[in-house]
Amino acid sequence: MELRAAIEGRRSIRKFKAKEISQEIIRDILETARWAPSWGNTQLWEFYVLTGKRLDEFREANHRSFVDGQSFPLDVPMHEVWPERLKGRYGELGKMMLTTLNVKRDDKEARHRLYEDMTLLFGAPCLVVACIPRDILVEYAMLDIGLIVQTICLLAYDKGIGTCIMAMAVRNPGLLRKILSIPDDRKIAIGIAMGYPDENFPLNNFERKRVDISEYVKWVD
Ligand SMILES: Cc1cc2nc3c(=O)[nH]c(=O)nc-3n(C[C@H](O)[C@H](O)[C@H](O)COP(=O)(O)O)c2cc1C
Repeated sequence: MELRAAIEGRRSIRKFKAKEISQEIIRDILETARWAPSWGNTQLWEFYVLTGKRLDEFREANHRSFVDGQSFPLDVPMHEVWPERLKGRYGELGKMMLTTLNVKRDDKEARHRLYEDMTLLFGAPCLVVACIPRDILVEYAMLDIGLIVQTICLLAYDKGIGTCIMAMAVRNPGLLRKILSIPDDRKIAIGIAMGYPDENFPLNNFERKRVDISEYVKWVD
């Protein structure tokens, strides 16, 4: 696939078909993604590929803990209070998703259901969990993780596989740590839900927005 078409065509997928992705395909994606850049070529990333029964086990326990109102200390904290400008964009995404689902903004139950779907990984048959060493500055480690994660998503898209990068997938680090046997000296950074997209699902089709580059590019001559 042409690079530009891949960059513009990739989008977050929020409903997957049950169809498994073969291990061969996942391996091929991860092998090619190795060519992502990293600080000093340290390649500090570590990935855990969770599928099958163990993924179902995770999904169920993750969902249950969310419904029970449990929250957990995160390895990489989520940003909570957004500055106005960014809050506006975040709010627009939420509004767009709820409108697409025909949900009124004050319908708390429906909003809760959307978050429940996140804890269930939108039905993805595969979760790739990205980890970083605990003893590395998180700022730079997350930059390297971001580079390889986007590369993985583009390579997956090229193979007709949908992805959703998900902070919500790693909201229960203790559970993931247990199921995946992740050592304590690793931080769980982010998850990528992966699978074949359900093309007809509205959330996989709404019109996405980006601000004009004049809002964030300054030219100096
Ligand atoms: C670090 C990061 C965390 C994200 N976490 C979630 C998440 O928990 N749930 C979700 O539905 N989407 C999540 N997303 C997807 C973003 O909402 C999405 O990338 C953004 O709205 C742009 O849309 P697009 O990916 O369809 O182009 C995350 C994306 C990133 C980069």
